[in-house]
Amino acid sequence: MGPQDQVPSFPMLEAALIPEGEASIRFVQRNCNWLQALEGDIDTSHFGFLHAGSAEPEDFQDDHPMRHTVTNRAPEYHVTDTDWGTSYGAYRLEENGSMSWRIANFVFPFWTQAPNSDFLTNVGVRAWVPMDDEHTMVVLISWKKSPGAYTGMPLKNGKAIPGFAPTIEYLPNTNDWYGRWRPVARWENDYEIDRDAQRQNIIYSGIKMVFMQDQAVTESMGGITDHAFEHLVNSDQMIAKTRRRVLKAALSLRDEGKSPPGISNPEVMWRARSGTFHTAAHEDWQAAYENNLKNAVRVISNTPLSKG
Ligand SMILES: [Fe+2]
Repeated sequence: MGPQDQVPSFPMLEAALIPEGEASIRFVQRNCNWLQALEGDIDTSHFGFLHAGSAEPEDFQDDHPMRHTVTNRAPEYHVTDTDWGTSYGAYRLEENGSMSWRIANFVFPFWTQAPNSDFLTNVGVRAWVPMDDEHTMVVLISWKKSPGAYTGMPLKNGKAIPGFAPTIEYLPNTNDWYGRWRPVARWENDYEIDRDAQRQNIIYSGIKMVFMQDQAVTESMGGITDHAFEHLVNSDQMIAKTRRRVLKAALSLRDEGKSPPGISNPEVMWRARSGTFHTAAHEDWQAAYENNLKNAVRVISNTPLSKG
């Protein structure tokens, strides 16, 4: 779309540069506004209740990397603007005195990077592509060579966290514009909610798969929710900052003709990485980010940054 001389460069997101054959790509259609859907992905504290609300610390091995999300379900936050969009670090003091960090990003115009994996090897991104105002196509891209999300690691009893079914089942495709990548669990069947599992506190939400739990929460707010009713709290800092940043970018494009971040300088995206790491208790999180980035395993060795 638009004039040829303003065609943006290809995004230099690491996950978009995964060599052919090493990328895993999935699609899911979500029936709500793209930003509403995306915001669920940059709200990290919901993990400890929506997804793991029925799990207790003693269900995890002491060194299980997800254990802290249920020992302390209300992390503290740092949030910042970045060259590529916005970034947060959700932090918790561990019993051994170290600080655990969950770092995640919003990358212009519609990408998120989630924190549920080791920062050093985590390569993944999600695109929240608007189909129209009230439908979004989510594209989940990950690197097959990355060890994968901690959420796949079993509990002490050798089983997965209840409510962490590994796959999404889809309805058959139709030739309608909205006829593809529609999960079987959906609004019309209450996302196949299992009230018994919920009643017995086996699955907090009663919904058997993490992505569908998010889907249920963001879709059931309505196609476009009325934000006037919101009472934003500490854990909404990332969402508030991201909304401001997106609005500011839209206004400067409209009023000053200025391109949003990453259009004329796509190389800034190469530095966007999410995941978990530990620091000493009072270490600066941005400095720790830079240090970890230097040691990160990359999908290609010849990085866009090394070109100068
Ligand atoms: Fe979630």
